[in-house]
Amino acid sequence: MDKGIEVIASKLEMKPHPEGGFYKETYRSIGVIPQESISENFSGDRNYCTAIYFLLTSENFSAFHRIKQDEIWHFYDGSPLYVHVITPKGKYTRYVVGIDLNQGELPQLVVPDGCWFASSVKNPGAHSLVGCTVAPGFDFEDFELASRGDLIQEFPEHKEIISKYTRG
Ligand code: GUN
Repeated sequence: MDKGIEVIASKLEMKPHPEGGFYKETYRSIGVIPQESISENFSGDRNYCTAIYFLLTSENFSAFHRIKQDEIWHFYDGSPLYVHVITPKGKYTRYVVGIDLNQGELPQLVVPDGCWFASSVKNPGAHSLVGCTVAPGFDFEDFELASRGDLIQEFPEHKEIISKYTRG
């Protein structure tokens, strides 16, 4: 087990995330967008923008989920992070969020709204510390954790990756 993560999680006051890993919300705008001014997908008013730290270890994964807003990932430290994305049309791509530009890693990645996505740490015995920013701001009302069976039924061609990165 990577001992460093206990120190990071404690120093950054992180708590377990329902998708796996640990997070700490670092920013929630005071400003609010009224429901009438955003897409009717949203069930109420939303803050303009929110940001979190997100910490994942190689023993764990962030399970497939989707939200109603684009999510911007930022690399901070540790191992590169794989972000597994399935678009609504069923195209699967594995992105690598990291800082090694010679390896084609991405310091930032945008996951468009409505895509299913999961993440995992590239290096064994390691952790990844990243940030995630969303606008309109994050609300668990807009968050949906995938059901393994339903997602496989929708995208049977991605059965293997869906089975690996869902919990049930
Ligand atoms: N706040 C709580 N959970 C999340 C999440 O998964 N993503 C973002 N961007 N913010 C969050």
